Formats: sequence, structure tokens, C-alpha cells
Amino acid sequence: MDKNQALIEKRKNSTAGGGEARIERQHGQGKLTARERVELLLDEGTFQEIGMFVEHQSNSFGLDKMKYPGDGVVTGFGNVHGRLVYVFSQDFTVMGGSLSKTHADKICRVMDLAMKNGAPMIGLNDSGGARIQEGVVSLAGYADIFYRNTRASGVIPQISVVMGPCAGGAVYSPALTDFIVMVEETSYMFVTGPNVVKTVTHEEVSSEDLGGAKAHAEKSGVNHFTASNDVEALKKVRDLLTYMPQNTDELPPRPTRFEYNEAKLKTIGSIVPDNPNTPYDIRKVITGVIDDDSFREVHEDYAKNIVVGFARLEGRTIGIVANQPAALAGVLDIDASRKGARFVRFCDAFNIPLLVFEDVPGFLPGTDQEWRGIISHGAKLLYAFSEATVPRITVITRKAYGGAFDVMNSKSIGADLNYAWPTAEIAVMGAKGAAEIIFKREIAAAENPEERWLEKEAEYAEMFANPYRAAERGIVDDVILPEETRDKLIAGFKMLENKHEELPRKKHGNIPL
Ligand code: HXC
Repeated sequence: MDKNQALIEKRKNSTAGGGEARIERQHGQGKLTARERVELLLDEGTFQEIGMFVEHQSNSFGLDKMKYPGDGVVTGFGNVHGRLVYVFSQDFTVMGGSLSKTHADKICRVMDLAMKNGAPMIGLNDSGGARIQEGVVSLAGYADIFYRNTRASGVIPQISVVMGPCAGGAVYSPALTDFIVMVEETSYMFVTGPNVVKTVTHEEVSSEDLGGAKAHAEKSGVNHFTASNDVEALKKVRDLLTYMPQNTDELPPRPTRFEYNEAKLKTIGSIVPDNPNTPYDIRKVITGVIDDDSFREVHEDYAKNIVVGFARLEGRTIGIVANQPAALAGVLDIDASRKGARFVRFCDAFNIPLLVFEDVPGFLPGTDQEWRGIISHGAKLLYAFSEATVPRITVITRKAYGGAFDVMNSKSIGADLNYAWPTAEIAVMGAKGAAEIIFKREIAAAENPEERWLEKEAEYAEMFANPYRAAERGIVDDVILPEETRDKLIAGFKMLENKHEELPRKKHGNIPL
């Protein structure tokens, strides 16, 4: 066999993974192989592999007889929609995708390249965790990855797709990245699995219920995007990347073509109901003003009282944070504050302007919230907005009450423009509660206290349940018709295109974690 033919044979051997039977098993579980995933993630024919022949260096527990070229992870670079990305894809067919020191070194190698060259890092996770036969060196390998995830945070976008097991300490690599996509039924993430849970807390729970895509999308908020299979998960990643820049020094790509159905303008004025206590879906407002089909909601199933996601305005990527009156009246609670804050920080790190739609009655009261730290968690959202230096615009659609008004990207914490719709109510609190406090004695002394209370409520509402007191003081910059919103936002973000703001010199801030 000549030398070239030998190389071709070696390559074939390397791309065979753990062999036919294991590949069949992988497919039988509804999962693609590591290489099939890479092919789907990247533009056709662009994948360039690095480290195809790397093998582990361990001899204990028979490992010397279990050598697979590539060592259970496919690494390299390629393009997504013509733009460079780096990728690793764990191969479950090779020793369960378990992480050896060399497997970790391969991942670190592409992470280092991604950092040096300023391009996103995509990790496809499908692994039984630390390679048990190797012992402590594989643990160090994990730490090498965590360290790089942390150093890369805010420098390049990092996306993790969990497409199989991801358990124990291994979960912390995805957790340190910007977004996690999980596949329903075939993926799970937990620090300790069902067996340990049963031993320690006597709870009986399946892997899926404990750490499946749904559990993390709805309960913990660890999962940002759920996909029904591998193909959909990878499509979601490709789409998501179109909203992001390559790194912190660049702007997101701006497609020159976009569509906007003008008919939406006619309906936008009737979305907010006449009765201020009637809920409505803030997503109708969002889709009413942005480019058609451009909204990509993040964390759709978690803390539904706040809506966050990417969108486009005349092709320009923006990040949207919006109170959702259709869930818990749009109140801010612990989960909503954390969800909002994390999204704001991603947008700020990657030069994505922020648009806020505000309809917030305040913070959620109760012992549960107070004892679990709504003070610190609410402060996260306040901190994230206050620190953000990207262009920032707020539109108040209805309620803007109390401390929550300040938190939701008010001008005092650095918003560049603040608009209000005619339906806006900007006050310290709702009229009913306000009347009860400030006219307490007068109401109590009245012949008919209930009637007097209603009178006083109406008086307070007349004064503050509108945007004009705030406009008189310059707290809002303009009162605009709903149908004017899109044009105002386009003009506003264009005006802010060259905004440059620096934070005071510091090592780093101390966000209330
Ligand atoms: C070495 C492993 C492995 C591991 C699986 N395999 N996990 N080899 N190290 N961690 C191998 C199996 O021996 C088997 O080899 C093949 O991968 C497929 O595994 P199966 O058990 O047959 O698959 P399945 O039934 O689908 O179960 C998958 C699994 C299970 C649930 C992930 O394999 C499992 O429980 N593995 C151990 C998980 C674990 O405890 N990991 C260490 C956690 S500690 P063959 O040759 O038969 O194909 C950890 C610390 C990280 O990760 C700390 C970071 C700070």
C-alpha cells in the first residue's frame, strides 16, 4: 500500500467512531453521530478537522487496548452561513463520549483558536462524563475547559447543545456558556443523577423529569431552547448565530433585505385593552413593530412574566426585554429578574442594542420572594441595565409603577430614549393602593368609606394614570401613537448607531450574584 493510500485508510478508521454496532445503537435512540451533527451544523463541505489521529495516553484498566483515533471527540472549524465558527462534537459511540485528558486537550485546542481568532465556539455535548478508567487527569481536563469557558465569556459567543447525557461536574461547561439548547427525550443534565437523588433525598425521579429538556426549560431555566430532535437543535443554532457578531469587537451582521407587513400597523393600536387590568400578550406588540418573522424568543418556557429575545428592525439585530401582562400581570419576580438580567448582559457584551417594552405593576410581594432574595435578584436586572452601554430605548405601553419603573431601563439608569404610549400610567403605585394610603384618614372618616375611596382612586388615577406628568418632567421623551412606534424605533436606533460610552475604570464590577 502506498503512503497516500495508508493515510486514506487511517482517515477511514478514524471516522468510523466506535464501530457499526454502536452507531446503530446511537441511531436507534433517535440520535445522530458526532460527525453527522457537525455536517448538519456547518455549511456543506466547510468542515476542517483538527486532531483526527489524537489518541489517549492511558494504560490503566485495559485502556491501552481501547484506542480510538480522535479519542471520542470530533474537533475543528467551518462556516455557518459563510461565517467562521469552531466546534467540538462528543462521540458517544467511543467509550460513551467520556472525557479523557486528551479528549479535553482537543476541546481546549479549538477553544484557544476560537479566542485568538475571534469566532463563536459551539459545543455539541453527548458524554458519560469523566473517563472513569483515567481517574483524576480527566478531572483536570474538565477544569481546563471550565477555565477557558470563563475566559471566553463576553469575548466570543459560546453555544452549547446538549444531545445526550451531560452529568456531574460536566454540566458546568454548558452552564458557563451563553446559550444552552437541549433535545427532548434524548438529553439530560444534572449534577447528581436519579440514583444518588434516591439515596440522599428518597425522591424517585426519572432522568427526563430530573434533568430533561422540559425540566430545564420550565423549572430551572438552565435550558434556553428546546428542540424535538438533533436536526432541529442544529438548525436553531445556525439561526441563532445570524443574530450575533463574531466577537465583542464586531457588530452583528445586518441583512440588507427584510420584510415588514404594513397591515400590522393598523392593528397595533388596539392591542392594549381599555381596562388597565385586562391582560394582553406583549408578543403581539413585539411582532407588530419588528421585521416580519424575526423574533427569536429565548427562555420561552421559563419566567413567562418577562419575555426576552432577539429580533430585527430594518435588518439590524436588537435584543428585546418586555414585561408580559398575560403572565402574573407582568410582575417582576426572582426568576424574571434573573432571566432579564442574563439576557441584557449578553446583548451588552456583544453590541446588540436593547429595546424594552414596559408594562409592569411592580415586584411580586410575599414571604417566598423576600426570603429567597428578591432584593438581590431584582438588583441583578437593575445592575445589568445600569451597566449596559449599548443603545437602549424603552417604550412604556401601560403600567410603569414604583421601583420596577426604575429597573425597566428608565432614563435615570442610562436609557437613551424613553417613549410612552397614550395608554401609559407612570406612577409610584396603582391608584387604588395609592388612594388607600394617602387618603386613609379621610376615607375612614367618610360617611360612606367605600364611595370615598373610589372617588380618591379616580382622583389619583386622573393625575397619574397617564404619561403626561412624566412627559412634563422629561422623564419620558415623547408620547407616541402605537402606529408610530416602528418608525420612532428605527430613527432612534439609527441616531444611536455611533453611541460610545465607557464604564468607569475598574477590574470588574460586583453584580449582586
Ligand atoms: C468510561 C464510559 C463512561 C465513562 C460510559 N462509558 N460512561 N466509559 N467512562 N464515564 C462507556 C460504557 O462502558 C460503554 O462502553 C459505552 O460507554 C456506553 O455506555 P452504556 O452504559 O452502555 O450506555 P447507556 O446505557 O446509554 O448509559 C449511558 C450512561 C452510563 C448513563 C452515561 O454509561 C453511565 O452511567 N456512565 C457513567 C456515568 C458516570 O458516572 N460518569 C462519571 C461521572 S463523574 P461499551 O464498550 O460497552 O460501548 C464526572 C466528574 C466530572 O463526570 C467532574 C468535572 C468537574
